[in-house]
Amino acid sequence: MTGTDVAAGLHLRPVTDDEYPAFSAAVERQFADTVTAEDHAAYRTITELDRTLAVFDGSEIVGTTDSVPFTMTVPGGAQLRCAGVTSVGVRTTHRRQGLLAAMMRRQLDDLAARGEPLAALLASESGIYGRFGYGAAIPTVATSIDRHAARFATPPARQPIRLLDAADAVAAVRRVYERVQPGRPGMLARPAAWWPFWLGRDPEGSRDGYSRRYHAVLGDRGYVVYRVKPGWTDNVPDGRLRVGELVAADDEAYAALWQFVFDVDLVTTIEAELRPADELLGLLLAEPMRLRVKGGEPFYLRLVRLPEALEARRYDAAGTLVVDVRDGVCPANDGRWRLEAGPDGARCTRTDGDADLALDVRDLGAAYLGGERFSRLARAGRVTESTPGAVRRADTLFAVDAPPWNPFEF
Ligand SMILES: CC(C)(COP(=O)(O)OP(=O)(O)OC[C@H]1O[C@@H](n2cnc3c(N)ncnc32)[C@H](O)[C@@H]1OP(=O)(O)O)[C@@H](O)C(=O)NCCC(=O)NCCS
Repeated sequence: MTGTDVAAGLHLRPVTDDEYPAFSAAVERQFADTVTAEDHAAYRTITELDRTLAVFDGSEIVGTTDSVPFTMTVPGGAQLRCAGVTSVGVRTTHRRQGLLAAMMRRQLDDLAARGEPLAALLASESGIYGRFGYGAAIPTVATSIDRHAARFATPPARQPIRLLDAADAVAAVRRVYERVQPGRPGMLARPAAWWPFWLGRDPEGSRDGYSRRYHAVLGDRGYVVYRVKPGWTDNVPDGRLRVGELVAADDEAYAALWQFVFDVDLVTTIEAELRPADELLGLLLAEPMRLRVKGGEPFYLRLVRLPEALEARRYDAAGTLVVDVRDGVCPANDGRWRLEAGPDGARCTRTDGDADLALDVRDLGAAYLGGERFSRLARAGRVTESTPGAVRRADTLFAVDAPPWNPFEF
C-alpha cells in the first residue's frame, strides 16, 4: 500500500514486518501500558501488516492505528465485513496537529477500497470519534452484585458445567461463541488467530491483580470466563470475581451459568462489564435491586459503504424512506439516499427526490443496528424531519427484537 504525506516531514503508511516492534512499542507508549516482549509477539499473531497505519516523523513512529478484519451480524442475520479499529494513538509531542484526523481519513478510504461496509471501535474518550462518522450503536451495561444477596427467585436447574484448562477451553468456548454469534446482531466473529491469542495465553501483567483465567463451559450451550481476586477483611473472605465473558445459547444455560458464578466461594463482589443492554439477570433474582446496573461504554459503528450496509440488513416492516446524509469524511456516502426497506430485503439507491429525514452519518450508524432510535436522536436535534411522520416510520423500519450486543474488547 502507498504512503501519504500528512504534513512537512510526516509520512503515513502501513508498517513492514521489521517496523512492527516499533509500531507495537508506539501503541504501548500512547496507552501508558506495560507490554512484555512476549506480548508484542502475541499481538503480532493477530496483526495483518497491510491493515496497520503509522505516521513516521523521519524514522520514528509518532501515530498509529490498525484494524481487525471482523464480520458482524446485522439485523436479519447477514454477516457483514466490519473493521475493528484499534491501536489508535498519537505521540504526546505531536498531538493536536491533525495526525489522528489524517489517519482516520486514510483508514476509512482504505476500508472502503477493501469493500468493508462497516467499521467499529471502542473509544478511550467519548468525544473523539463522532467527527469521523462513528456513532454509539451498541449500548452496554456494567453490573455488580453482592454475592451473598445474589439469589434466584426460582433456582435454575443444575446443569453439567465443567471447568476447563486453557488448553481445552479454546475449542470449547469457540464452539459456543460461533453458535451464538450469527443470531445476535452486533456480535463480531473473531478471526481464527484471535482464539489462541485470547484464551491460549494469560500473561500475569494483564491480570490486574486477579487470578489466572477460569473457563466454565456448559456443553455447546454456554460458557463463562472469569477471574477472581482473593481477599480477606477482618479474617472474613472478601474476594472479587470479574466476569470476562458470559455467553449462552439459551435462557436455561444463561441462568445456570450465573448460578455457577454465584456459587464461587470466598467471593463477595461479582462484577461484569460490556454486558448487553437487555441483561436478563435482574428479572431472575429474588431481589432484583441487588443487581447494580450502570451504563457501560458503547461500541461505536461507522457506515463505511453506506448503501451496502443499508441493503444488507432486514427491516421490521416494509416502507420507503429518503434520507439526506451528511458525511464530511467519506464523500461517497454524502447526499440523498432512497431506502426501500422490508423484512425480506432492501434497496438503497441515490436519489434527487425530497428527503424525509436529514442526519449525520454518525447518527445513522448509531441507529443502524436498532440500538439507538431516530426519535431520540430527533429530540436531541440530531435528526431533522421534513416529511411529517418520517421519524416514526424510521423507528418502525429499524426496530429490532433485542438490542445489539458484542461481548469483547478489541
Ligand atoms: C486521542 C488522540 C489519538 C488524538 O490525536 P491528535 O492527533 O491529537 O488528534 P487531531 O489533532 O487529529 O484532532 C482531530 C480533532 O479531534 C479533536 N480531538 C482530539 N483528541 C480529542 C479528545 N481526546 N477528545 C475530544 N476531541 C479530541 C481535536 O480537537 C480535533 O478537533 P477539530 O477537528 O475540531 O480541530 C491522542 O490524543 C492520543 O493518542 N491519546 C491517547 C491514546 C488514546 O486515547 N487513543 C484513542 C484510543 S480509542
